[in-house]
Order: sequence, then structure tokens, then C-alpha cells
Amino acid sequence: MNSAYATEGQYIHPSILNADFMSIGTELDKITSADSVHVDVMDNHFVPNLTFGPSMVEQIVRRSAIPVDAHLMIADADREAPAFAEAGADSVTFHLEAASAPVKLARDLRRKNAQVGVALRPATAVEPILDVIGEFDMLLIMTVEPGFGGQSFLETMLPKIRRARRAIGAANLEVSIQVDGGVSRETIERCAEAGANVFVAGSAIYRAQDAAEEIAVLRELAAGHTAH
Ligand code: DX5
Ligand code: ZN
Repeated sequence: MNSAYATEGQYIHPSILNADFMSIGTELDKITSADSVHVDVMDNHFVPNLTFGPSMVEQIVRRSAIPVDAHLMIADADREAPAFAEAGADSVTFHLEAASAPVKLARDLRRKNAQVGVALRPATAVEPILDVIGEFDMLLIMTVEPGFGGQSFLETMLPKIRRARRAIGAANLEVSIQVDGGVSRETIERCAEAGANVFVAGSAIYRAQDAAEEIAVLRELAAGHTAH
């Protein structure tokens, strides 16, 4: 297995949800100093918003200089997620709430050469997935209700991140913890301190004057607050 998400590292993943969809190519060029591009796939069923399908993801994979991290906010993940691994996404994250056989799905996706993440909405408890967390490369703890960019960070998710990091550490596993939603200069340090090591930021990066500089600032703030 490729170790892009080994937990010693910290990774910044800009979300293109807040980018200009009419100019995706140039929007991707702004973030080549980041670790991966976070692509939010929404089906208007699991969340009330609609974005990209597998063929658009395939085009992004072809155009992007950095790996593609696909976050699937779609119903029936068991059936729909494999197409995104086939489209070439380097990592595929599906929601636990949308999967009926998450372990089987994780194994299917790995067989298709993707790293695999499992995502939890804010009101989904982390404990049930911890028994099988070794099946995943990454745990995505949503820090807003999924569906839209630009929402405020849910502080109440910090203890959940802490509990997950503690359990993963106690089991001696190398599973990354990603946070997504409201991550910015104001919130990234607390996320890192609680134990997150993969940081998605949409509006913070795409609304900044200079996306590359914002990536560098976020990286530095996270690095100063690594969890031990
Ligand atoms: C929300 C998406 C996020 C979103 C984050 O459902 O999963 O990736 O783009 O945007 P910000 O960083 O603006 O909260
Ligand atoms: Zn996302």
C-alpha cells in the first residue's frame, strides 16, 4: 500500500468546490503546491447539492499535477464508489451512512488501486467504525454538515477527533484523520492539536488573494501543532 497518508505527515488538500467551475484547469494550477486536490462529489440525494460524476473526476485526474482525493457524498456508495477508483482518483472516501458493507467496499476500492477513506457526518458516532478502522487509510471527520462550502467549523467535533486519534494510536495503526469544513487559519491549529493530519480547505484557499501563500500559511500553522 502506498504511504501517502502515513500519519507522520501533515497534508493540505484544497477543495475545488469553491473554485470557478468555468475555469477548472487554471483553478487547479493555483494549488500545485498542495498535497492533493479534494474533489467533492455530490448527487443531490445524500446531500442537497450536485457536482461531479466519474467522467469529470477522470478529467481532473488527467489535468491535475497533484493526486486527487475524491470525497463522495453520494447514496448507495457500495454501488457507485468503484467508478471513482476506476476514474483514477488516488483516494476515494465514502460516507459510512451511505454504505451497507463498508469493509467489503474498502477492499474492493483497494483492489482498484485507490487509497480508501471513510467519512462521518457530524452526528455519526466514531466508535462503531473504530473496530474496523485498520481497513482504511483515512478517517474523515466532517466538521460541518456536508453539502456546501463556506460554513462555520463545528467546534464540537474536536473531542471526536481526539477520541479517534487516541484509539488509532492505541491500536498501533497508521490511519490518517482528515477534517473537512470550516478549516482556516482560525481553526487548523485546534484540529492538528486534536490529532487531525489531513486538512481540507475550500473557501479559505479559493477566497484568498494568493492560494499558494494560503496553503503555505495553513501548512505552517498545522506543523506547529502536531498531536503527540
Ligand atoms: C462540504 C465539502 C467540503 C467543502 C469545504 O460538504 O465536503 O469539502 O468544500 O469547504 P470550506 O473549506 O469552505 O468549508
Ligand atoms: Zn469534502
